Amino acid sequence: MNIKRTLLNTLAEAGGRFVSGAAIAEKLGVSRNAVWKTVKALEADGYIIESITSKGYRLSEASNRLSADLITPLLDTKKLGCEIQVFDEIDSTNNYAKILTSQGSPHGTVIISDRQTEGRGRMGRNFVSPSGTGIYMSLILRPEYGLDCAPLMTSAAACGVAEAIEEMCGSRVMIKWVNDIYIRGKKISGILTEASLGLEMKILDFAVIGIGINVRSVKGKFDDELSQIASSIEDETGAILDRNVLCAKILNKLEKYLDMVESKAFLDEYRSRELLTGNVITSNVGGEILKGIAMGIDDNANLIMKLPNGQLKKLGSGEANLTRITE
Ligand code: BTN
Repeated sequence: MNIKRTLLNTLAEAGGRFVSGAAIAEKLGVSRNAVWKTVKALEADGYIIESITSKGYRLSEASNRLSADLITPLLDTKKLGCEIQVFDEIDSTNNYAKILTSQGSPHGTVIISDRQTEGRGRMGRNFVSPSGTGIYMSLILRPEYGLDCAPLMTSAAACGVAEAIEEMCGSRVMIKWVNDIYIRGKKISGILTEASLGLEMKILDFAVIGIGINVRSVKGKFDDELSQIASSIEDETGAILDRNVLCAKILNKLEKYLDMVESKAFLDEYRSRELLTGNVITSNVGGEILKGIAMGIDDNANLIMKLPNGQLKKLGSGEANLTRITE
């Protein structure tokens, strides 16, 4: 038995309540002195554990340290999170996840980092990933469905991320087609899906879904240009969320929504959160700028745009860079 991990699990499961030293000692089958020594060892690892003589120990909210041991007990998934690797720093969790796929890592493997030095966004952009504030997470998926379902995975994942954040912060969370998550008009999360085709080109060999979420305040961490469009859950709602609890909730929701990809049952939820629909937008498709009205999302998660001549144009996820225009 790894006593440190078991003690951490016990405190995480208590959900912010105190657990007495005697109860922990009994559960772990060790002396109260051994419990105390293990608490000190965890504190040396960076966890903040409050202790009150009459009440016992509890994991402080101020701890704010990402840990697989604090995420795993909160999962109710069958496969997602079967293996979780957490890093203090990495170049990009998507890059590392892709390396792991070549080593045979199973469906459901999750990579999380506190900081990324080369976080990547869509369209070759970078994704600013400072430490202590965000969740930078990649999932390895080896889906059994056909290629036609692949574009729907990101949209289903966006529903899961949005629902998890909304349940935790209490504010309405929207999705900007195709995969940006917004609160109060600011982007607080983005998703980058990268996939590899099987040899027969009819199935996905693997997909890596990378999710970046700005959780704690990013004030002073983004430059002026980025601050105009991006923000964090804390800055927009005041909610100071525990990143481990949010990671677990997101994985729980992702499994639920990714299971709906083939049936497309997630699309109503997606449509109810989509924020471009009904707005005047411009789209940049391969350098051609078009202006029109976003009419809604079709059954393949394409955005339907109405051009000034009445023509309906279908935009696929990879091909459009959209701006909402306020008129
Ligand atoms: C976007 O907004 O354009 C997508 C951003 C995706 C960022 C995440 S953070 C975890 C994973 N690793 C990366 O390098 N990118 C994704």
